[in-house]
Amino acid sequence: MRKKIVAGNWKCNTTIQEGIELAKAVNELVVTTGAKDVVVVLGTPFTHLTSVVAAVDSTRVGVAAQNCAAEAKGAFTGEVSAAMVKSTGAEFVILGHSERREYYGETSATLNKKVALALANGLTPIYCCGEALSVREANEQNAYVKTQLEETIFNLSAEDFSKLAIAYEPIWAIGTGVTASTAQAQEMLAFIRGLIAEKFGKAVAEETSILYGGSCNAKNANELFAQPDIDGGLIGGASLKAEDFLPIINAY
Ligand code: PGA
Repeated sequence: MRKKIVAGNWKCNTTIQEGIELAKAVNELVVTTGAKDVVVVLGTPFTHLTSVVAAVDSTRVGVAAQNCAAEAKGAFTGEVSAAMVKSTGAEFVILGHSERREYYGETSATLNKKVALALANGLTPIYCCGEALSVREANEQNAYVKTQLEETIFNLSAEDFSKLAIAYEPIWAIGTGVTASTAQAQEMLAFIRGLIAEKFGKAVAEETSILYGGSCNAKNANELFAQPDIDGGLIGGASLKAEDFLPIINAY
């Protein structure tokens, strides 16, 4: 059965000290009262990875980077490679977040290199996709997301594809307090699963974890996660406080 995943995306928030405190608080709640069948992931800044890995019970809480370099190593000042991420003990990497695409010019070509390096280094990519408001208003979201997938992770072999998770995050719902309706989220995730089935076969599609992200919180997670194609969430704002994050983990 495919995994349920609730991943926090801390973005550019928390100092190391605050991050360790947050990780410890989440870990404590997960170990004592967290749903056992949910994979919990904390997506921290690069600087925090090693410390957060050390602060959590790795059997209950995984750790993700929010990005990695598109090159394996070398003269790329300021970059952090997939191998470096892996060497911290982190197991996941969020790739293709809309903020990276929008503010840092990440293209499908860049993402292909990042996904390949993440996989080559044994990291599980959480690959993000999703449309802007103008695309949704033109009712072109399906074609838009299909292209995002076709230009990137649909180029992988079925074996490599089966190692990653997908997060659908409509840009208009990220950090805005406007969640996609349950029907909109379910419809898109079912559409994505259908595309995976066409490309890689039904068995692969059934095993792929597809998450929803965008203003997901303790209030709406229950209804979202009850949908047949929604396998969890990528959580920004509501992952920055342990007491906000736990009810999302336990929303199944
Ligand atoms: P949000 O962010 O939950 O604050 O909307 C989600 C994300 O960007 O991953």
